[in-house]
Amino acid sequence: MKHRSVSIILIGAFACVLLACSGNKGGKGTAKAEPSLKEVFKKDFLIGTAINAGQIQEKDAKANETILKHFNQLTPENIMKCEVIHPGWDKYDFTLSDQLVEYGRKNNIAIVGHTLIWHSQLSGFARQLKNVDSMKMFFENHITTVAARYDGKVKGWDVVNEALNEDGTMRKSVFLERLGPDFVTEAFRLAQKASPKSELYYNDYNNEQPKKRAGCIELVKKIQVAGVRIDGVGIQGHWHVGRVPFKDIEESIQQYSALGLKVMFTELDIEVLPRNFQGADVGQRMTADSTTNPYKNGIPDSVLQQQARDYEGLFKLFLKYKEHVTRVTLWGVNDGQSWLNGWPIRGRTNYPLLFDRAFNPKPAFYSIVALKK
Ligand code: G3I
Repeated sequence: MKHRSVSIILIGAFACVLLACSGNKGGKGTAKAEPSLKEVFKKDFLIGTAINAGQIQEKDAKANETILKHFNQLTPENIMKCEVIHPGWDKYDFTLSDQLVEYGRKNNIAIVGHTLIWHSQLSGFARQLKNVDSMKMFFENHITTVAARYDGKVKGWDVVNEALNEDGTMRKSVFLERLGPDFVTEAFRLAQKASPKSELYYNDYNNEQPKKRAGCIELVKKIQVAGVRIDGVGIQGHWHVGRVPFKDIEESIQQYSALGLKVMFTELDIEVLPRNFQGADVGQRMTADSTTNPYKNGIPDSVLQQQARDYEGLFKLFLKYKEHVTRVTLWGVNDGQSWLNGWPIRGRTNYPLLFDRAFNPKPAFYSIVALKK
């Protein structure tokens, strides 16, 4: 009898040890032994990712596990854009954005609101406003209502997104046409009033390129001269493997920070597929042919190694300027979720991020983590 209970105790203890080990893996065998990105870079900058509606609602356990383990900042990929959050003149829908803010609160993850003013993914009713006064009214109501609701609950706002052309002049958007070039300063003025406790950013792609950067600096100075608050500039960072413009990026960090701004890399990805232009203008498209989707059955290791060197070079720069670089956000959790599978050609197989389609870390992940060893 005594022997039996001793055996039971021993078996129980062994089982506990086994459970404790597998507990390390979340009990489901799903977790990984890799270090946590947010731990690795915790003394340097926030490390974020863009998430979609399903991820906010924790529909995919593996995605959720990866988000919680690695990221301390989240940007909504689509659900805070006008067409979702403000679908009609008098109609707001905060269902998903409330859920996002709650997800961030309960997991201690900073949220960046993306985006208050953008010509794309604008609700149909707003796009059709021909009258200047109606556009003004929409503009004020939209910024004030959305920014005030999450004041202090989001770390910051992409107040205006992509207002510039490649040559640094202002993009011919519905806002420029109806409201004139001061609409950017006005957007920041309204956001500052509605959301005094959150930071305010201007966000764009290719604004590390000298001409567009000059236009961006001009915009920032105009806001500052008007006595309006702007806390940071976002360089989206949609770059191409083997062609990352390191020199332009370094000069941009120096020049933007010299204006007293925080510098953020807000939509980082390094794509590997052929493309005949640079940037992220969602209006631009490419035609598919037999050469445009080369890695649909797998990607050569040499390309992943080049991508790892590119990410490494970038993170070296971010670390060099960590005093000024406050955040680095990847545009998606894993390769399968990236917008680059659908743009500028639909249905391609792209590999731009740090985690593969099964949420395994790629060579690029290990190359940036190794910088801190
Ligand atoms: O909402 C519809 C849905 O009703 C429909 O069933 C589905 C079928 O295609 O499409 C859905 O809309 C898609 C939307 O994402 C939401 O998922 C659009 O087709 C698709 O074009 C749209 O793409 C987004 C893109 O912005 C459009 O502007 C990408 O997910 C998003 O990653 C991308 O993000 C932008 C940043 O906000 C700004 N900087 C550039 C960046 C990349 O384009």
